Amino acid sequence: MIVTTADLFRIAYGRFAVGAYNINNMEQTLGLFRGHAEAQAPFIIQISKGARKYAGIPMLEGIIRAAERMFPEAIFAVHLDHGDEQTCYDCIDSGFYSSVMIDASHEEFAENVAITRRVVERAHAKGLSVEAELGKLGGVEEDISVDAKHAMLTDAHEAKLFVEQSLCDSLAVAIGTSHGAYKFSGNQGLHFDRCTEIQHAIPGVPLVMHGSSSVPRSEVERINAAGGAIDASASGVNEDEFARAVPLGVTKVNIDTDGRLVWTRVNREYFRDKPAEFDFRKPGEILVREYAQFIAHKAEKLLSAGTLADVRSALS
Ligand code: G3H
Ligand code: 13P
Ligand code: ZN
Repeated sequence: MIVTTADLFRIAYGRFAVGAYNINNMEQTLGLFRGHAEAQAPFIIQISKGARKYAGIPMLEGIIRAAERMFPEAIFAVHLDHGDEQTCYDCIDSGFYSSVMIDASHEEFAENVAITRRVVERAHAKGLSVEAELGKLGGVEEDISVDAKHAMLTDAHEAKLFVEQSLCDSLAVAIGTSHGAYKFSGNQGLHFDRCTEIQHAIPGVPLVMHGSSSVPRSEVERINAAGGAIDASASGVNEDEFARAVPLGVTKVNIDTDGRLVWTRVNREYFRDKPAEFDFRKPGEILVREYAQFIAHKAEKLLSAGTLADVRSALS
C-alpha cells in the first residue's frame, strides 16, 4: 500500500527511522519488498533523476505497482530523490509520488528558500510533502579546523529560518555524512551535537540523513577479491549510530551505495566462480536473496523492524 510520507513520518518520529532506498531495476525492487516483508518494516522507495533516465518513468512505476501486488502487506511511500524544480513538478503532477525532494542546497540561502517555497506550494496543493536540503553534504575530514568543520554542517538557527520561510515538511541536514563509498578517512562519525541543536531549533520537524551507507569493509574486500578495485580506504556511517540519531529527530535515512555494493559483490563473485555461465537469472536469484537480507538487517539498525503492525493500525 502506498501511503503518504507525512503519515510515515508522523508515526516514526522519535521512535524509528524509515529506510529510504533508491531503485533502478526489478531485482532491487524485489529484494527491497522481500527484505521489508521479512523485517516487518515500512519503507520509502526513492527514485532519482538518474533512475528515471536509466529505466524510464513508466518502467519504474510499473515495477513498483507490480511489487505492490506481489506484496500486498507492504506499507511504503514513493519519493523523488534530489529533484530539481521541474522534475519536482513532473512528479507532483504525475499522481504517483508520495513526496518530492527539492535539492537547491547548492544555491544561496534566499534562493534555496524561494525555490523550495514554490515547490511546496505546488506539492501541498496536491497532498504531497516536500523534503528540502540545507547545508553542504561532504566528507568532513579529521584534519580540518573545528571552525571549518562546523561551517560545512547545517546551522541550527538557519534551519529554523529556512523551515519557517520555505514551509518544507522535512529537512535534509548535513551532520557529517556524504554520498558514495568514501565518506570518512578515519574515525569520524555523525555530529550528534549539531543534530541536537537542530532538533531544538525545529522540534518535531523530521530530519533526513543522506549519505547513510555504511560501506562494510567485508563487502569491499569481497568485491576486490573478485576482481574489483575499490579503494580500501572506503568507509561509511557506523550503523549503530542510527539508534542514537532517532531520538534526535532523524526520521528518514537514505541508503543507496550499500545496495550497489551488494549488487557488485554478488555479480563479481558469481561470474568469477562460474566463468562459463551466462544465464543472468542465476546470479539474479542470489542477488534478490542477498539484497533482502541486507534490507532486513538495515531495518533492525534503523529500529523500524517489527513496527509494521503498529504502523498499519496507526494509519487506520
Ligand atoms: O544520492 C543519490 C543516490 O545515490 C542516487 O544516485 O543519481 O546515481 O541514481 P543516482
Ligand atoms: P549513500 O551514497 O550513502 O548510499 O547515500 C544515498 C543517498 O543519500 C540518496 O539520496
Ligand atoms: Zn542523497
